[in-house]
Amino acid sequence: MTFTAPRGTNDVLPAEQPYWRWIRTTAEDMAAAYGYQPIDTPLFEDVGVFERGIGAGTDIVEKEMFLLQPRREEARRFALRPEATAGLCRAYIEHGMANLPQPVRLYWYGPNFRYERPQAGRLRQFTQINLEAIGSADPALDAEVIVFAWRLYEGLGLQNLTLLLNTIGDPAARAPYLEALRAYFRPYLDELDEDDRVRFHKNPLRLLDSKNERTRALLAHAPDLHEALPPAALAHFERVQAYLQVAGIPYTIDKHLVRGLDYYTHTVFEIVPPGAGAQGTLGGGGRYDGLIELLGGKPTPAVGFATGVERIILNLKANGITPPPLPGPEVFVAVTAEGTTEAAFALADELRRAGVRAQLAVGGHSLKSQLRLAGRLGVRYTVILGEDELRGGTVTVRDMGRGEQQPLPREQAVAELARWLQQAGRT
Ligand code: HAM
Repeated sequence: MTFTAPRGTNDVLPAEQPYWRWIRTTAEDMAAAYGYQPIDTPLFEDVGVFERGIGAGTDIVEKEMFLLQPRREEARRFALRPEATAGLCRAYIEHGMANLPQPVRLYWYGPNFRYERPQAGRLRQFTQINLEAIGSADPALDAEVIVFAWRLYEGLGLQNLTLLLNTIGDPAARAPYLEALRAYFRPYLDELDEDDRVRFHKNPLRLLDSKNERTRALLAHAPDLHEALPPAALAHFERVQAYLQVAGIPYTIDKHLVRGLDYYTHTVFEIVPPGAGAQGTLGGGGRYDGLIELLGGKPTPAVGFATGVERIILNLKANGITPPPLPGPEVFVAVTAEGTTEAAFALADELRRAGVRAQLAVGGHSLKSQLRLAGRLGVRYTVILGEDELRGGTVTVRDMGRGEQQPLPREQAVAELARWLQQAGRT
């Protein structure tokens, strides 16, 4: 009997880790530079956090949540988090962050879980980087999170991306529009597919981003949401655009962009790579001024975004962009005789304490195969500690680049190697 990883999950093997480290440290450094503080939340939350926050009628909540089996009848019901924003707002309320200077700028990194049909770029466990600015309605913040997303991708070398931007107003402004949209689609109900008929009844706004061809054709003459929005909402949208313009970030207004989570108000955006399908969106977000209140807090405006790490990696690979390598050992300590294993072990330990990254040979292999391994590891030096060396109080140092060897007194070896590596300029 053997086991495999669950469908839609990935083992991230050592060869893949440089991508992960690079993306994470780039985002973390940027978050610090923008004044966003790191925060973590639990992997699972009360189901209600997601039902109320994301919306009970959304695909995420209705079809994709990993529900945990309660141990007792009366127990609270939990689900693995399908996204971070709702849990972050729960934490904001629970910890009284409204009493801190506003806005509270938060950076979040971690795995999420959605029971989706797995395919390239769509996983059941995936990792997100989130940025959330809670407690201010200033349109500069909408632009700030968009600029952050754009600069993150830019910093990783991704090019030719498209920023899609829209405003969807707030629920009060939307209500009469949604009635008008229903009135427009009602005569065509029979022509809509099953999904869109459900949307018509439950969440007509989602008709705007339907993938169905007939629905899309009908949308050409459907009422325009922007025309239904009050001047203040349009002014907010204008301000966001003005900030994007001064940052030199190009955008395309897509009046059909509404996103799949119910909490959005006003600004929504997505960033897509060239030729991307539905699974291609690198990241997206928007304003969610009603979410904190929905979760039991005081009315609190907020805006944020999330990007999927796996999708960034797919795009880096598709563009032939490779991450900087992770630091590996600089020195390999070879062992050539049974009697020198302890001396070699002690030498490796001393090297590391002196700040030198050292890997010790194990397993009693021939010197030839140890040198081959050292070559593969890419170390600058191999230190050979054989019986002759041990007796003479020396070590033999092999410069792997030059292929030259020289003896060094054992008591000076660590300091000398550290000095040489320093001079050679570490990688
Ligand atoms: P979302 O659009 O559901 O938004 O997800 C954001 C990003 O997470 C996507 O663009 C994609 O890169 C990645 N992603 C989502 N689902 C999957 C999946 N099944 N497999 C791989 N990657 C995936 C949100 O989650 C909002 N919470 C974003 C937000 C933050 N809005 C405001 N603040």
